[in-house]
Amino acid sequence: MTNEPVNQLLVNLPYGGCELSEVSTARGKLIDSGFRFRNMRDADLESVLAVEKRCYEFPWTCRVFQDCLKAGYICRLLEQEPDQQLVPSESSKLLGHGILMLGPGEAHILNLCLVPECRGTGLSVKLLRSLVETAKSNQAKEVFLEVRESNEAARKLYESNGFNQIAVRRDYYDASDGREDAWVYALALGDQYC
Ligand SMILES: CC(C)(COP(=O)(O)OP(=O)(O)OC[C@H]1O[C@@H](n2cnc3c(N)ncnc32)[C@H](O)[C@@H]1OP(=O)(O)O)[C@@H](O)C(=O)NCCC(=O)NCCS
Repeated sequence: MTNEPVNQLLVNLPYGGCELSEVSTARGKLIDSGFRFRNMRDADLESVLAVEKRCYEFPWTCRVFQDCLKAGYICRLLEQEPDQQLVPSESSKLLGHGILMLGPGEAHILNLCLVPECRGTGLSVKLLRSLVETAKSNQAKEVFLEVRESNEAARKLYESNGFNQIAVRRDYYDASDGREDAWVYALALGDQYC
């Protein structure tokens, strides 16, 4: 990871968005500063929905996010610091969001996404870890999540961060050509994590 400032480093690359000019991974420069986490509020919903629609073919509706807020789920936003430019200036300063449901002894990640311009920068790992750390600090012993079978980037992200596939839920998701299976993942939270 680098501590160099990351503003003024955006260039267009043929990956379907912007990446940073000093490439230190196969896909982009690792971002280690210039962002912060905060809790989602009702006033964020419009911007959150805009990010959600850019990230998913079948995005959550406003109602689902409102229900998560009402239910007291952990609704975490990743945003750039006001003086930074991690994404093009016309974009929202929101970079992604993650939703975590806490239960007795366990937690479920219900949503996790990152705007396309910031992928391949390590920020998805930071967002994932922030949710896992919250689960751990709330005495969860295990974290579960579901992911589409076709979602290779997400599956790799979870697998390289300690999650193990434990089951398949047949026809769990809507898909453009019918239904799609979900792979269920679990992470055991021992002292060794993070
Ligand atoms: C899932 C998501 C958060 C991952 O963010 P990211 O910045 O792309 O993650 P990373 O750069 O750490 O990539 C994760 C892994 O997938 C690989 N990868 C990335 N894009 C890929 C693609 N299109 N196809 C195959 N593999 C891909 C990376 O090489 C990396 O593999 P590695 O761990 O072996 O190095 C992001 O892609 C996203 O927001 N997707 C849309 C929303 C979504 O699907 N969320 C998950 C819901 S369960």
